[in-house]
Amino acid sequence: MCGIFGIVFAERPRRPLGEILRRSLERLEYRGYDSAGVAVVDRGLVVRKDAGKVAEVASRHGFDALQGVAGLAHTRWATHGAPNQINAHPHTDCRGVLAVVHNGIIENYAELREELAKRGHIFRTETDTEVFVHLVEEYKRQGLDTFSAFKKALARIKGAYAIALIDAENPQVIYFARNLSPLIIGVGDGFNIVASDIPTVLDHTRRVIAIKDGEYGYITPTKVYIELDGLLQDAASRIEEIPWSAEMATKGGYPHFMLKEIYEQPESLAFTVAGLEPAQLEAVANAVLSARNVYLVGAGTSYHAGLTLAYLLPRLRITAIPIISSEYAIYENLFDRDDVAIVVSQSGETIDTIKAARAMREKGVRVVAVTNVVGSTLSRESDATIYTRAGPEIGVAATKTFTTQVLTLGALYVTALSLLGYDVSQHVDEMKKVPDLARKTIENTAGTAKDLARRLRNRPSAYYLGRGAALPVAMEGALKLKEVAYIHAEAYSAGESKHGPIALVEPGFPTLFVFSDPQTREKTLSNVAEMKARGALTIGTVPAKSDYAKKLDVAIEVPEMGDVFAPIIHVIPLQMLAYFAAVERGYDPDKPRNLAKTVTVE
Ligand code: F6R
Repeated sequence: MCGIFGIVFAERPRRPLGEILRRSLERLEYRGYDSAGVAVVDRGLVVRKDAGKVAEVASRHGFDALQGVAGLAHTRWATHGAPNQINAHPHTDCRGVLAVVHNGIIENYAELREELAKRGHIFRTETDTEVFVHLVEEYKRQGLDTFSAFKKALARIKGAYAIALIDAENPQVIYFARNLSPLIIGVGDGFNIVASDIPTVLDHTRRVIAIKDGEYGYITPTKVYIELDGLLQDAASRIEEIPWSAEMATKGGYPHFMLKEIYEQPESLAFTVAGLEPAQLEAVANAVLSARNVYLVGAGTSYHAGLTLAYLLPRLRITAIPIISSEYAIYENLFDRDDVAIVVSQSGETIDTIKAARAMREKGVRVVAVTNVVGSTLSRESDATIYTRAGPEIGVAATKTFTTQVLTLGALYVTALSLLGYDVSQHVDEMKKVPDLARKTIENTAGTAKDLARRLRNRPSAYYLGRGAALPVAMEGALKLKEVAYIHAEAYSAGESKHGPIALVEPGFPTLFVFSDPQTREKTLSNVAEMKARGALTIGTVPAKSDYAKKLDVAIEVPEMGDVFAPIIHVIPLQMLAYFAAVERGYDPDKPRNLAKTVTVE
């Protein structure tokens, strides 16, 4: 998840353009921070970029001294291609007159690259983005003006994008387009801006136009044009005044990274869906189907993500063994070259997980990593890597990386189903709907989660219960509450709760049930009744408009969804409950005590 910014002035600004771009990059750095770059147009096009943090790259390459009338800036969070100088944005065409910055994924870049290479285009990077600037160049070469070439290039690409492009031959224009990735326009006096988010423009203006999915157009220093139904229109009537101050801009306007990252889930899930590579999923699913044992390995939240797949695979008669990374030695004598391990780690740097992966590879197990960080140790040391596209996660408690992991593992399961000849059209439809349903879930359940957090404020303890595929969700919900709100929370198989845990239950004891698994809901209801009979406060995440709500003291209604992707939807209110409980109790959810984002000690 990258950050983009572009600004065009009527005349050279008083402060050097490079300094303005550097400041915007500092604002955007939370969106991605493995590389940064700028392009400015003055008499010609100048591009400076490199791997590293914004401050380092900016001082190494003298951003602050760059002059010009129009410029682009980009912070990168690598998706395709390692984080290095060449792959950093902006990317340029063969003649060095066009520059582009992009946030998102161009899914069909490989075929476009092949087509353009045949036409003589020289590619310098490993990125998906570079094809876009060559496409525009190609269409300009064929005689189109820049905007027509830009539009024609847009029609060729598939995927998620927010794009901005400048052309040194037409210096006072920035072309833009949006599909799934966020993009806004900041409207100034004698200048206009395109940017990934509102906070980034607040240093310059509070007048903003929100660009919608599928829209494109261009800005000049004084005008904003958006094309609608083939007609280019002045967008002045869409300007809104934003009541935010520049100070609110940190964390993208959210009080905490954790909340921001919970709200980013629709976008991260959409990116992850767009970034799935069918050929790769098929290769891994084939390996899973022919394996003797499949190990699902991870620590903490990543272990819970692995569990969601471990609980589905036996349905396909596959022996799936979930392994907590630090406990891999228990299974060491089983490891064999006929086995496959799916090793899950958002950071790709957790030492327990890396050690487990190494031990497995030594015995010939085929290791497939699922990680969020391109070039991480785990990805380098695995036989194959499937990337989640959650963007940088700063909050210590994992949220958006968990849901993108579950989505990725669900996609793998659905691929295996289809290889076995099952009709998976309903699963595929559901997967595509997940980002939108996640957004609805956030909007519809935030209020209930907040009220509930108030009720749980002074409770020392809670149970999170679920059966079957719902148990990993209960485990993740309990972990979140413990981690950030410091309330003791214990997850149990709902059926097992009567074999001991129920002894603790007394009037008012919070017991939270997860109803994400359609196959186990009826049985879970009997456990609700048992808890109710002991006076527990029964709470549950339940499908909307179902009768389950009536059986609970507090029902958190979420959209109905099949068992594969339901964990994503059901965990969202639990993440919010933990967040609001932390805030209610006066704790900083971004920095839970005793915890580190990446655990590099055994
Ligand atoms: C919980 C959390 C941790 C991590 C665990 C593994 O909110 O963040 O439990 O999930 O430390 O980290 P990764 O996924 O980086 O291997």
